[in-house]
Amino acid sequence: MQSPPPNPFRYETIDSNPEVINRVVDRRRLCAALSEPGRRLLVHGRRRMGKTTLCKAVVEELKAEGVAVMMVDFSTATQLADLSNALLQKITAASGKGWQDYLSDLMRALSLQLETEADPLTGAIKVRLKPIARTAPIDEQRATFIGILDRANELAKQQGRHFALVVDEFQELARFEDEATLWNLRAAIQHHTHMSYVFTGSRVHLINLLMASDRAFYKMFSAINFEPVPLVEMRTWLAGKFKASGVTQLDGLDWLLERAEGCTVDRLRLAAMSYPLAAASGELTQPMVDRAYRAVIEEDKAYFQSDWQQLTQHQQNILRAMAEGETKLGSKAVRQRFSLPASGSVSNTLKALLERGVLHGIESAPGYAYDNPYFKEWVHQRNRLDLGLS
Ligand SMILES: Nc1ncnc2c1ncn2[C@@H]1O[C@H](COP(=O)(O)OP(=O)(O)O)[C@@H](O)[C@H]1O
Ligand SMILES: [Mg+2]
Repeated sequence: MQSPPPNPFRYETIDSNPEVINRVVDRRRLCAALSEPGRRLLVHGRRRMGKTTLCKAVVEELKAEGVAVMMVDFSTATQLADLSNALLQKITAASGKGWQDYLSDLMRALSLQLETEADPLTGAIKVRLKPIARTAPIDEQRATFIGILDRANELAKQQGRHFALVVDEFQELARFEDEATLWNLRAAIQHHTHMSYVFTGSRVHLINLLMASDRAFYKMFSAINFEPVPLVEMRTWLAGKFKASGVTQLDGLDWLLERAEGCTVDRLRLAAMSYPLAAASGELTQPMVDRAYRAVIEEDKAYFQSDWQQLTQHQQNILRAMAEGETKLGSKAVRQRFSLPASGSVSNTLKALLERGVLHGIESAPGYAYDNPYFKEWVHQRNRLDLGLS
């Protein structure tokens, strides 16, 4: 007997060369920003939309065309020295043969902070911050960080080329760095005519902090608001994958897209969970999608439980009301039904949930929606148990 084809839907990892659902317009703008010196672009949007994936795909494409482009991830950094190390690693890799010049230039300027090491196998020289640099005073750390970028710009200028840098989840800078670093960074990168910068960010309230009119990154970037993949594009892509893997009847596909809502990962995940059910008969039906939906929630139950326990009672009650589709959170009936506090307190609680990433902002009332549709459904189910709602 033949084994079934592998599941065509992936969402857990980002390959170095990902196959990307087109996103033609976003892709073109990213390419343009990274191909032209002096450009600065901000790509902002909710998590799980595909920002990192698209940036990686574009970076690989441009690399293949010979552009010196690199991508650093700020999401896991705990201090400025970590960011400096990430930059050093990428810049030395991207500057190719010229990186020896960069290194000697850097060593002259920042020798106190740097150390080098030869790879025992290849003999390649690696450069990084000395461990002691992590505990250096903040102004030294700042000078190192900005010095690394300044010298990359200088090198590019000398070589008559340009460096393109993608900084993933840049808003983490705001989490642990002081204002002065941000203003210095602004001043520096405004003069980097031989660099181009793409910053991506998911955490809206931190991004807004950095971009406000009195803050360091005001009007520094043109911006892409990273919206969901258009429904038609997503549908066509999913249908193509299902069909190529032997599922030719797709009566349940629109239901799948409706239940999964807008995030790329949520959509791919429901498709991945539905696929084995559909592959057996060659047909994707609505009941299969419902089964898969429940299976996703089952898989994440433990996370939801622990997230839930970390919320305050007010937060839980508001989420309960929203899971029942209530939009008038200030109305007397809703407040009584879900034991909500006075309306000023409701709006503070909503803001706190936004900052935690549990909710995201929307245009229509009440201005917020669940970030994760599966979590919403889990709370809805809990309401049945805890509140006895029918
Ligand atoms: N355009 C896309 N085409 C194919 N898969 C995608 C696309 N965008 C996202 N994905 C999938 O979703 C996952 C998460 O996306 P990611 O880029 O990490 O989102 P973000 O950076 O916005 O949080 C990726 O691992 C990838 O598998
Ligand atoms: Mg990302």
